[in-house]
Formats: sequence, structure tokens, C-alpha cells
Amino acid sequence: MTRSRSAGAEAEAAGVEPPLLLSGVDRTYERGGETVHALQDVNLAVDAGEFVAVVGPSGSGKSTMLNTLGLLDTPTAGDVLLDGREVSDADDARRTRLRKEYIGFVFQDFYLIPTLTATENVLLPTVYDADAKARPRAEDLLGRVGLGDRLTHRPTELSGGQKQRVAIARSLINEPEVLLADEPTGNLDTDTGRQVLGEFERVCDGDVAVVAVTHDELVTEYADRTVELVDGHLEVR
Ligand SMILES: Nc1ncnc2c1ncn2[C@@H]1O[C@H](COP(=O)(O)OP(=O)(O)O)[C@@H](O)[C@H]1O
Ligand SMILES: [Mg+2]
Repeated sequence: MTRSRSAGAEAEAAGVEPPLLLSGVDRTYERGGETVHALQDVNLAVDAGEFVAVVGPSGSGKSTMLNTLGLLDTPTAGDVLLDGREVSDADDARRTRLRKEYIGFVFQDFYLIPTLTATENVLLPTVYDADAKARPRAEDLLGRVGLGDRLTHRPTELSGGQKQRVAIARSLINEPEVLLADEPTGNLDTDTGRQVLGEFERVCDGDVAVVAVTHDELVTEYADRTVELVDGHLEVR
């Protein structure tokens, strides 16, 4: 393992499994008779409450890595472990269930439903659950990200930073152990980006593990640890 300086290794030695672990992960794509190595022997452990930034230029494998961590993509080789449980070979139904239980996602483009209010957007991952506590939890989460006075606003009535904070609240509605963010500040100016990154810091205080992949160096100021992807290889900074 090339996990140097990883708190995950310490946690593992202490008998506590990290919420997220990639071990020897390869992902290749076949394209027009050519093999693209999107990820090569990637090892990463992320602890509860740890904010890890993954930086790298376009095409370095960031989205592939995040999708692998989020069980949206399957490695060609290697293992993905959630809470110490091997999940690389899980079938679709199990992956869907694990995603819902353990993982929240935040994307560059927010992916809010334009016809729904902020609260309704946050509630979306719970619509099939008939959980009476979901609505107060959604309102509480929106309050925590500073949008307590925007509960009934629709996305067009919100700024970019506010939309991303709604997306963060939505990602937390099922109380995940892990929050995965793909270029979360990609559509935001620097000041707004800082506000959003401050929210990730607070999410970590609540013991959620956060992984943000980005080419925005600003993220590294907020992360506990930064690793770099170079042509599919993960390097410690
Ligand atoms: N579905 C796919 N089919 C073929 N090649 C892909 C696919 N997805 C990604 N790639 C290739 O894998 C490499 C890494 O892509 P990606 O993970 O999207 O990088 P990043 O997010 O850092 O821009 C790139 O060379 C990209 O062209
Ligand atoms: Mg990408």
C-alpha cells in the first residue's frame, strides 16, 4: 500500500475501518481500439470527519475516481470498501441501497429540480420513504447552511452559491457517512466558493468524510489533506 501519512492506516491499525477505502484500483476504458488508463493502482483511505481534496487537471481521472468511490462506476481491478466492507462486486440493487444509506453527492451543476422549492429539493432523496421526520430535517439542514429564510424559494430565485448550499443540504438528508463532491466550486466565483467550502468544513465537524475532486486550488486551503491525480496515478502532495 502506498498510503503514506494516512490517518486511515492509523485507524485501521487501531481496528477501526475507514468509511472509504480504495485499494489497488485500476479503471481502464476501451476506446476505438485504444486502452485508456483512467485510474492506475489508486490507494486511498478517508476517515470519518476528514476532508480530502483530490486535485488534477482535466482528464487526470478525477470524475472516474469519484464515481468509483460513489459506486456509480466499477473498477476494472482492485477493491472498494465502505466501512471495511468489500463492495466492488455488489450487484446494482445493493449498490443503490448502499449509495442511499452511506453516500451523499454534490455536483458542479447543482442538479436541482427547477419546479421544486428548496425544501422540496432537499426532500427529494426521501420521497419513497414516507418519513414524517424528513421535512423538519430538511428545514433544519437548510437552516444549517444559512438558508432558513429561503425554504420556499425555487432555484431560479437563488444565487449559484445558494443553489450549491441547497445541494449540500440535499446530500445530507439521509445522514450519509460520506459526502462526495465533483468540482463543487466549478460554477462559483471565489467568494461564493469559499462559503461553500466552509460548509464542507462544517460537514466534517459532524464526522462525515468528505472527498472533493477539483481543479480548483482554493479547495486545498480548506481540506485536511490534498492528493493529486496525474494521468490516473494518485500522488501525495
Ligand atoms: N466513459 C468513458 N469512455 C472512455 N473513456 C473515458 C470515459 N470516461 C472517462 N474516460 C477517459 O478517462 C480519462 C479520465 O477521465 P475523467 O475521470 O473524466 O477525468 P477528469 O474528471 O479528471 O477530467 C480521460 O482520458 C477520459 O477521456
Ligand atoms: Mg471530471
